[in-house]
Amino acid sequence: MDPKPIITVLFLISATVIAAQEYVRPPPRKALHFPWSRKPSSLPQQVHISFAGDKHLRVTWVTDDKSAPSVVEYGTSSGKYSSVAQGESTSYTYMLYRSGKIHHTVIGPLEHDTVYFYQCGGQAPEFQFKTPPAQFPITFAVAGDLGQTGWTKSTLDHIDQCKYDVHLLPGDLSYADYIQSRWDTFGELVQPLASARPWMVTQGNHEKENIPLLKDGFQSYNSRWKMPYEESGSSSNLYYSFEVAGVHAIMLGSYTDNDEYSDQYRWLKADLSKVDRQKTPWLLVLFHVPWYNSNKAHQGEGDSMMAAMEPLLYAASADIVFAGHVHAYERTKRVNNGKSDTCGAVHITIGDGGNKEGLAHKYKNPPPEWSVFREASFGHGELNIVNSTHAFWSWHRNDDDEPVRSDQVWITSLVSSGCVAEKTLELTKILTEP
Ligand SMILES: *[C@@H]1O[C@H](CO)[C@@H](O)[C@H](O)[C@H]1NC(C)=O
Ligand SMILES: [Fe+2]
Repeated sequence: MDPKPIITVLFLISATVIAAQEYVRPPPRKALHFPWSRKPSSLPQQVHISFAGDKHLRVTWVTDDKSAPSVVEYGTSSGKYSSVAQGESTSYTYMLYRSGKIHHTVIGPLEHDTVYFYQCGGQAPEFQFKTPPAQFPITFAVAGDLGQTGWTKSTLDHIDQCKYDVHLLPGDLSYADYIQSRWDTFGELVQPLASARPWMVTQGNHEKENIPLLKDGFQSYNSRWKMPYEESGSSSNLYYSFEVAGVHAIMLGSYTDNDEYSDQYRWLKADLSKVDRQKTPWLLVLFHVPWYNSNKAHQGEGDSMMAAMEPLLYAASADIVFAGHVHAYERTKRVNNGKSDTCGAVHITIGDGGNKEGLAHKYKNPPPEWSVFREASFGHGELNIVNSTHAFWSWHRNDDDEPVRSDQVWITSLVSSGCVAEKTLELTKILTEP
């Protein structure tokens, strides 16, 4: 018998198998259109929640009606509000644009791991959220550089399917890029998720929106996304910290002064000196511009911040650093000072939420020794901190609208590896230097 047909068939089968393994990346998706009809002017819009100190949450929403009250009614059963809180409000103008009334109302004290129902400004509809647990396990969803495209929608849908407690966003939210109404559409797009779980964000370059001589930066961001900076002893909404279930999380600003003489640096030292690793064994840090990045996009942009702040974070044994900005995903080994180091932080770039600018496809080759996994695809991450020593990290690619788990790793804490104990003296020294 002629062996040729059999060889041909075998060849075809193996070619098909190889082709199935090769991931074919789908093209970018268009910006979403929001054909929303006009709403009653007192209707609460763009509702989102964030931490506001121990056992408290800040509820933020917007109304067109400037006389709508900044009041939140809430309770643990639907339609029955046992508590009420009065808040504050703000608004801003930006060239010809006038924002609605932006309400910020702090509620609490709240029970841990409990579902609450709430209403804003005495108006339906009713929203609900779940508070995080008091202790491990806790899960964070992480996605940066979100924007408002078809891919943003797919990322948000995947996050919605996962069981998580808090959303972390390392900068670049709406990609409004000076068109202020896009902040409103972004607020509406994220409301289903951001009204149900705390969204803790830090700012990226797309939040700046400064105009020389006319507008300082971050006006819209600061008005709409007020974070617990006062609660964490900071004088700026651009850097702050919060604690939840055994985690101390520090949110830094890549686009505000961060050298040794800056307010941000001084605040960071003060904040680190308050961290108690018995109470919060895990130390997470987020900012926008990555320090460890082997993508060709945005090379070197984080260098000066890294030179100033990495020694502090290293002495303080930061466990994981999340960044965005580069529209791709990358995970490193534990690193410090440009090379792998078992007492350094794991750096994760996750700027692949779905922005309109597309993906960053070009990488430096060969990869640096510290780079473990890198890929230019849209997606999101999940950090499940199981206990004081173990956390499970996974990155989920938006593959054909299915959240495919593409990278996963167990991360053990620096408390458990002895690095925290080893560096106690070094940390005290660096924190008490004038
Ligand atoms: C923490 O969780 C890991 C993974 O499930 C487990 O192997 C380990 O024994 C746990 N440690 C403690 C102290 O419970
Ligand atoms: Fe960016």
